[in-house]
Amino acid sequence: MKRTLISTALAIALGAGASFAFAAESDVVNERAPKTEDQAGEAAYLAHCAACHQPTGAGLAGAFPPLKDSDWIKKDPQAALQAVLAGLSGKITVNGNDYNAVMPAMSHLADADIAALLNHVMDDLNDLDTRFTADQVAAARKDIAGASDPAQGEAHPGTSQAEAAYKGAPSSMAAGDMKMVRSPGAPDMTEEEFAQATDIFFQRCAGCHGVLRKGATGKPLTPDLTQAKGTDYLKALINFGSPGGMPNFGTGGELTIDQVDLMARFLQHTPPNPPEWGMTEMRESWKVLVPVEDRPTRKMNKYNLENVFSVTLRDSGEIALIDGDTKEIINIIKTGYAVHISRVSHSGRYVYTIGRDGKIDLIDMWMAKPERVAEIKIGLEARSVETSKYKGFEDKLAIAGAYWPPQFVIMDGPSLEPMKIVSTRGMTVDTQEYHPEPRVAAIVGSHQHPEFIVNVKETGRILLVDYSDIDNLRITTLDAARFLHDGGWDVTKRYFLTAANQSDKIAVVDSKEQRMVGLIDVDKIPHPGRGANFVHPEFGPVWGTSALGNDKITLIGTDPEKHADNAWKVVEVLHGQGGGSLFIKTHPKSRNLWVDTPLNPDEKVAQSVAVFNIDDLDAGYEVLPIAEWANLGEGPKRVVQPEYNAAGDEVWFSVWNGKDQRSALVVVDDKTRKLKAVLDDARLVTPTGKFNINNTVNDVY
Ligand code: HEC
Ligand code: HEC
Repeated sequence: MKRTLISTALAIALGAGASFAFAAESDVVNERAPKTEDQAGEAAYLAHCAACHQPTGAGLAGAFPPLKDSDWIKKDPQAALQAVLAGLSGKITVNGNDYNAVMPAMSHLADADIAALLNHVMDDLNDLDTRFTADQVAAARKDIAGASDPAQGEAHPGTSQAEAAYKGAPSSMAAGDMKMVRSPGAPDMTEEEFAQATDIFFQRCAGCHGVLRKGATGKPLTPDLTQAKGTDYLKALINFGSPGGMPNFGTGGELTIDQVDLMARFLQHTPPNPPEWGMTEMRESWKVLVPVEDRPTRKMNKYNLENVFSVTLRDSGEIALIDGDTKEIINIIKTGYAVHISRVSHSGRYVYTIGRDGKIDLIDMWMAKPERVAEIKIGLEARSVETSKYKGFEDKLAIAGAYWPPQFVIMDGPSLEPMKIVSTRGMTVDTQEYHPEPRVAAIVGSHQHPEFIVNVKETGRILLVDYSDIDNLRITTLDAARFLHDGGWDVTKRYFLTAANQSDKIAVVDSKEQRMVGLIDVDKIPHPGRGANFVHPEFGPVWGTSALGNDKITLIGTDPEKHADNAWKVVEVLHGQGGGSLFIKTHPKSRNLWVDTPLNPDEKVAQSVAVFNIDDLDAGYEVLPIAEWANLGEGPKRVVQPEYNAAGDEVWFSVWNGKDQRSALVVVDDKTRKLKAVLDDARLVTPTGKFNINNTVNDVY
């Protein structure tokens, strides 16, 4: 399949569509009775037409014709009714532009709804006198044989491929554990079909729509909503995608016509509930491989541990420990599936990894050959782990957060024994409605108080979890914004900056005073990782993030003492190579700012990295062809996540290739920006995140 970059104009349209999608949810006619007929018409239009034709009716160039001031409608207003009831396909010309796509039949809508939305189109969008009544719709229905098949159409440029690749990442849950829930009003399915659909849903859809389909980035897909929309509508959306960010799974070639049909039926059934994972399950999964008393009492190897890298080997379910000085592999260790991050205890002795499957592995770096000493599974799907860093609690505790079940658990640091599980289910920050699945995103250990700072995605709340007295746990709840994701410290390690990526905001927590100090508007879908800190020649200390949806690198002032005017404001926006960026990076000893773009659909951009000179940001960036330097042959060869060595004079990149292809790590000299080493040992399968021990312990980024 050919992947093209979305144009700026389209990207803007996508932005508008996405924000509308959330605004419109509460207006859907099927849920709430609107007050007047006018409002009913507009609400029905927003619910059933705007996903494609856009809220304003302006359409989307090349994909969906305009309904506003349409000469096609003016010529024959009755034909619009025909289009809604029977669908429309084949070549048409609207206002001089040709379209050749498929509009699904919407004959499942109530007569009154169709009349109301058409009247909105006639009156508000076209200034025509034509009006429809429910009776007219009912009469027209009789003459129409049935709907055209919406699964035969042309592709349209739906969502940003970068966002789809990122948010659509598979969940680690399988259908095996779920029970089929048959729902009245839903099209029938066999148990096998249900199981297959559940698998596809967890693989392809849950990342955006949530395991329970309550909605996250994607809209809620619960039976009350999906049954009202009907199979044809659902099929069309899954098949063609929508400008609001729904990928085109059918026309994009990722699902067959039968699978699209299967998913459309599945969505009308009650979502299967995955099992809970409480203390019993955690204890059963908990293994201490080397008891604390049998472990070394001093470092038993000669490695310079400060400069060791823990490298995620994503698809092989392993991490590689690499000696940064000699560039030799120390050990390859079997871990959970697709390790998301490594975190290091305060002393630098213990490395904690967490897989997407919720498995934590604890590695003791003091052993002659560093190895795993304990493991536990804290949920079915997870992303975050952290250790206690406050004075007096160093190396004592660990915490991990789960996506499913929605909870976090505090553990004994050296043994991983689970001590306390806390559920994050609760009310959302904006509408204060119950959310059954608020996933735990980034967690950091405070340096100011004995606290873990826990981001809860769907409720939009930041929890300050005081671990000084676990039996009488105190949690301070801060209101931020939905959907909290990733973040990092400012250079003083007092302020925690974290992205709320669907609200397109950065929340700032003062960890010393335990309160929010800022909520900053930024551009579409910030993805900071931990972000990057440096001293800007003009604005003083700043923290920066790149973005998934565009080429912007946003710099925020972080010094309320000496640069109060700039504090918690966007002081500058740089433009990198393009969207699809995951990480930016610099180091206190460097004046380079590196920006990756691994999810950019353009190969050249995904396979290279941009580097800015911090002292001359206006000069723009230099592009280094990192993947080309690795010389690996075939494959996507995405260049991802710059990470510094302990001294801050080398930058390491992963060249992330397919599982059966060759991958590598590329080391660049930070001063000269020249190639220093390529690590292409065959055991380095799909390397992604790299965590230098010194930089991770000390939060240097
Ligand atoms: C899944 C996407 C989708 C949805 C939802 C959708 N349409 Fe369309 N519509 C299209 C496409 C695609 C065409 C062009 C069809 C062609 O090329 O033959 C179209 C064409 C039309 C046209 C004729 C061309 C024009 O612009 O005047 C009208 C009228 C129309 N749609 C009305 C509606 C109304 C009213 C609704 C809501 C009930 C609706 N559409 C919902 C995709 C959609
Ligand atoms: C990259 C994120 C993403 C992924 C992955 C994704 N969706 Fe969506 N989906 C969205 C967004 C965003 C919307 C809202 C689109 C809009 O309003 O135009 C949406 C809308 C929908 C709708 C229409 C709902 C409505 O009320 O109009 C359906 C149906 C749907 N998705 C099904 C699926 C299925 C099935 C899958 C998996 C095969 C899936 N989605 C995967 C983001 C995603």
